[in-house]
Amino acid sequence: MPREIITLQVGQCGNQVGCEFWKQIVKEHGIRPDGIIEDFARDGYDRKDVFFYQADDEHYIPRALLIDLEPRVISNIRNSEHKNLFNPENFYISEHGGGAGNNWASGFEQGGKISEKIFDMIDREADGSDNLQAFNICHSTAGGTGSGLGSYLLENLHDRYPKKILQTFSVFPSQESERGSDVVVQPYNTILTTKRLTQNVDSCVVLDNAALHSIAVEKLLIPNPDFTVINKLVATVMSACTATLRYPTYIHNDLQSILSPLIPVPKLHFLMTGYTPLAVAESESTVARTTALDVMRRLLNTKNMMMNVGARALNSKINHVYISLLNIIQGDVDPTDCYKSLTRIRQRNLVKFISWAPAAPELVLARRSPYIETRNKVSGLMLANHTIVSSLFHRSAMDFDKMKKRNAYTEPFRKHDMFKDDLMEFDSSREVVGDLIDEYRAATKETYLTRHMNMQG
Ligand code: GTP
Repeated sequence: MPREIITLQVGQCGNQVGCEFWKQIVKEHGIRPDGIIEDFARDGYDRKDVFFYQADDEHYIPRALLIDLEPRVISNIRNSEHKNLFNPENFYISEHGGGAGNNWASGFEQGGKISEKIFDMIDREADGSDNLQAFNICHSTAGGTGSGLGSYLLENLHDRYPKKILQTFSVFPSQESERGSDVVVQPYNTILTTKRLTQNVDSCVVLDNAALHSIAVEKLLIPNPDFTVINKLVATVMSACTATLRYPTYIHNDLQSILSPLIPVPKLHFLMTGYTPLAVAESESTVARTTALDVMRRLLNTKNMMMNVGARALNSKINHVYISLLNIIQGDVDPTDCYKSLTRIRQRNLVKFISWAPAAPELVLARRSPYIETRNKVSGLMLANHTIVSSLFHRSAMDFDKMKKRNAYTEPFRKHDMFKDDLMEFDSSREVVGDLIDEYRAATKETYLTRHMNMQG
């Protein structure tokens, strides 16, 4: 029985990232851009039904809802070569059409007004599944729609589908101090969204535009990468994350079995990723030799991470550690070689883990699409639960505090119901993010379990 996953793409970033993912996986499954299966892919051993369903004809349709409060991005998709891929009933553009003006409060409030229509669409997709396992939500935390409407959907999905896994692919903005902020109120939007990512989500894959930009410049040697390049990197990660679900073997063939060992404490569910070797159509992969050991070693290099860990965090007094680490290796590998490499990495203590629970790097061998040629024998994805993720929240919280201290740019928020009488939601969200940072910092210490139990008790 398939264990279906429904993808919700929200806002500009969510839809653009989501569409790159679909472009990538249709190729992997031998499905043409119009959704028709190629003859050579008819009898594949892959599981198309996790992410697609079949229409009455030969058409494969993504289990995806494309949602936005302004028409531009979805119109572009409707005019692209993938226009016939999606179910036309699964596009939602708000009638008001003006977007959320980079304002979380506007996105959240509009969520309440369009809730009935959106949940009708979600329920219809869910009813069309035999055994729905999860919702994947793609969005950014910095604008108004992906963050505000995204937050509304997260809160309500959590209430409406409590037994289904909620996983997000969340794009955090470049920090102001590093590359210039593209949305002035992004610290507010990010903190308000991070509260929902903390409280309503089972797993959040953290992607950070600053890191993605650096990877494109430094690893792919593309001097001025645009969003298409950056989104291809995200699509590569999303595809590798889901490879074991789409090309199942005996283990790790549902999302729960991947996430459970990665997330031993439910609150600490923010995952960092790394991928190697990287290539997008505009550039060739720069890596010449790929053995399982090379790939696993490279995955441990912070420069391959899709989150900017920052020199300051690396050199801080806090001894950050891995809570868990999973490498998904794909390609032409001898399993014995792979396990030997893993043992070598374990023996050399290359990875510093928590001391309050048994932990070690884990390995999954995943199959690769037979329909895509790659120059590299082996590729790998790292999914890591690392306490250093707290440095991203810390930087966002510092930016938030600077703005909030001056009550700067709060006027547009006060126009919406949640902030009309007071700004308490700002304080409540900041507190949740503060607690999250503290929890990750506490997890670096041996005494963590005692603290955790005391807080539970
Ligand atoms: P409104 O524009 O206010 O309606 O909200 P929105 O959610 O549509 O905004 P958007 O998704 O554009 O969010 C802004 C943030 O997302 C900024 O940090 C942008 O740099 C980032 N962003 C926008 N588009 C993309 C994209 O295609 N890829 C990536 N990686 N980031 C994007």
